[in-house]
Amino acid sequence: MHPFLKACRREPTAFTPVWLMRQAGRYLPEYRALRARRGFLELCRDPDAAAEVTVTAVGRLGVDAAILFADILLVLEPMGVGLEYSRGDGPVIQRPVRTAEDVARLPEVLPEEAVPFVFETAKRARAALDGKVPLIGFAGAPFTLAAYLIEGGGSRDWLRAKRLMHGEPGAWHALLDKLARLTARYLNGQIAAGVEVVQLFDTWVGCLAPAAYRELVLPHTRAVIQGLAPGVPVIHFGTGTAGLLELMREAGGDVIGLDWRVDLGEAWARLGPGVGVQGNLDPAALLAPPAEIRRQARAILERAAGRLGHIFNLGHGVLPETPVEHVIALVEAVHELSRR
Ligand code: CP3
Repeated sequence: MHPFLKACRREPTAFTPVWLMRQAGRYLPEYRALRARRGFLELCRDPDAAAEVTVTAVGRLGVDAAILFADILLVLEPMGVGLEYSRGDGPVIQRPVRTAEDVARLPEVLPEEAVPFVFETAKRARAALDGKVPLIGFAGAPFTLAAYLIEGGGSRDWLRAKRLMHGEPGAWHALLDKLARLTARYLNGQIAAGVEVVQLFDTWVGCLAPAAYRELVLPHTRAVIQGLAPGVPVIHFGTGTAGLLELMREAGGDVIGLDWRVDLGEAWARLGPGVGVQGNLDPAALLAPPAEIRRQARAILERAAGRLGHIFNLGHGVLPETPVEHVIALVEAVHELSRR
């Protein structure tokens, strides 16, 4: 079995497996060349081109896992909310969901019909990888999807989302319930198409109070994870989650993703035994020279202290300004320093 899959199951590995969130993204010259000619959505809808992005990144970096080329917001587009990726400003949702009526009006979407290209991409990427490294599928968690749907795009404090969450809990639960069912179906479709591990991105959940997470988010995230085909490891990731780690573990996942704002050793002690950890180098560390990258990688490996189930990753995605050679230096350093 491949080291990445073993680590997801907390089995011993000869070295610590490493991959990077957003490893198939704008810091890669090959990706920028493709994007110069075509829009992001157009690329996602072309399974051959999207599979190629996945495979090119793996070949270039020497990482231990591949990630499907897609986006967490793609499943929202068929709801008719007007999803667009405008150059530079990140994603925009032109008709955001703001009221209980908006929530009630959202159509029930079947991913197999609405985003068949994602499953086709997964099939082709899996075939093209030819068993070299496992393929990771992914989706947004209900909270993070709802946050984008309500705000209409990214936000610093997610106040519109919180207004609905605290002010109209009935509508909030109805929305998250809908998104949880959609997400479970979407991930099960990816699993049927050949992804071997899934990552649930609750990127912005760290903006919540623990009590709000427990009552208004946790049941929905748990429903997604419990609705997945058995036997496929789940990585449950968020940023700014120092106050939520125990609750995220309660929601589920075989591996918990950590950002760089927590000490990996302390966080793992809090999570307790029986769970893996993914992380947690600051993406900005990759802007430093390779010697410094190596020093910080070693420090994180020391914090993991040989526990079973560590997957090395950044605490969030690769920054677009990152030199490719620095990413390669990180991957080599992790392999070399962790060899047992
Ligand atoms: O290597 C990979 O991880 C590829 C697949 C992937 C993308 N998006 C491609 C993408 C994954 C796993 C995502 C997840 C995603 N998308 C998240 C969760 C993780 C995170 O980074 O927080 C979120 C919040 C989104 C929503 C999203 N999509 C944003 C905020 C943006 C714009 C800003 C940015 O970071 O690029 C996107 C666009 C996007 N998704 C791009 C890529 C390669 C850039 C599009 C372009 O080429 O212009």
